Amino acid sequence: MALLPDTPTRFLTGITTSGTPHLGNYVGSVRHSVRFSRRDDVQSFYFLADYHALIKVDEPARIQRSTLEIAATWLACGLDPERVTFYRQSDIPEIPELTWFLTCVTGKGLLNRAHAYKAQVDKNAARGEDPDADVNAGLFMYPVLMGADILMFNAHKVPVGRDQVQHIEMARDMAQHFNHLYGEHFTLPEAEIDDAVATLPGLDGRKMSKSYDNTIPLFTPRAQLQKLINGIVTDSRAPGEPKETEGSALFQIYQAFADDEETESLRQAYADGIGWGEAKQLLFERIDREVAPMRAHYEALLNDPARIERILRTGAEKARALSRPFMEGLRHAVGLRNLASQDPAAARKAAKVARPSFKQYRDSDGQFYFKLLDASGVQLVQSRGFASPQEAGRAIGSLRQQRAEALAQLAAQLEPLDDEGMRAASAALEALAAADAASEG
Ligand code: TRP
Repeated sequence: MALLPDTPTRFLTGITTSGTPHLGNYVGSVRHSVRFSRRDDVQSFYFLADYHALIKVDEPARIQRSTLEIAATWLACGLDPERVTFYRQSDIPEIPELTWFLTCVTGKGLLNRAHAYKAQVDKNAARGEDPDADVNAGLFMYPVLMGADILMFNAHKVPVGRDQVQHIEMARDMAQHFNHLYGEHFTLPEAEIDDAVATLPGLDGRKMSKSYDNTIPLFTPRAQLQKLINGIVTDSRAPGEPKETEGSALFQIYQAFADDEETESLRQAYADGIGWGEAKQLLFERIDREVAPMRAHYEALLNDPARIERILRTGAEKARALSRPFMEGLRHAVGLRNLASQDPAAARKAAKVARPSFKQYRDSDGQFYFKLLDASGVQLVQSRGFASPQEAGRAIGSLRQQRAEALAQLAAQLEPLDDEGMRAASAALEALAAADAASEG
């Protein structure tokens, strides 16, 4: 689908609805995307990846809760649903349909190499277990579903962390392969990695992540926020002793929220031997200053789930205004078509491809042979040997012209046919003659 020259850059991102948004999600993705969505040269798509959540979460209430929390987070952080297309993946039935189309143009070998799947297989191998132990097919198919998310809206740019770059490359592969087979339907997406976007350390100093259980929920109540921040690991240096900023989780989290000047003054305070308790208080106040106004909005939204539901449904309508006609075009492209609206030229071409055929060849005995094959390549007639290609050709000529009659006349030069074989062979010769007549006419 050719883009008009003035098409704005389409930017698309999703969040899997498997948990509660934390400071790492905010700093690494939400804050950046919301800022980006306000640009005039950008058209953005934001969605709740709830089909993806089913791969790893089998608690329905948790999926529902997480969907609500993530939607409320986007909105509280300033996403304007009038300006962007904001929707829930499972409200777009075209997405699973596209997933199937892409599944059929994706090499299984490509999916074998996907990081998330491979990591699980390697883990099993290390434990001496069956390679696919505890692997559901959803995990294996994860990149295809993600490809459908991206290609459905012909996104140009997909902001992702480095761990997701491979998925974008796979989506490009799928798009390329589909375009090659069925015409130019898909834009090739690119990963957008913002190196300025920090990966935030968690309470224990490792990357803040649900899987390490070291997160600080973005909108945890004030008192709880303070308590969690007090639990961030530090070294054992006493107040008055100079502190290292390098490798300090507390410093890195502060830096992700503070401007350059504030960061410099904390660096100085570290050098001057600020006590950990005081540093934690600074961090708490800095985060709370940014989060508090949004927290109030978040809580109001959580208390009005019907409003979020309405926003998402409106968003789904906006998204489906694009996905529905797009999918119709794709269905047509692959041949899932209304039978009554056949284009006669295309029909003739299709018939031409799928018609019975003669194959002539010389065998190792030096004699010349032919076969008659049906439209799908199944052998119907096998000749005996002829001394020259001309004699074989003459036999083919009379079969093409006299059909059933010639089959009977040439019986001695053909491997014997039973009644059924005879009927099939003459039907094929009739079909061949009809196809010849149609393409001449
Ligand atoms: N894989 C992403 C995550 O782990 C979520 C996601 C699903 C996504 N589909 C996407 C992100 C398409 C960007 C584009 O949270």
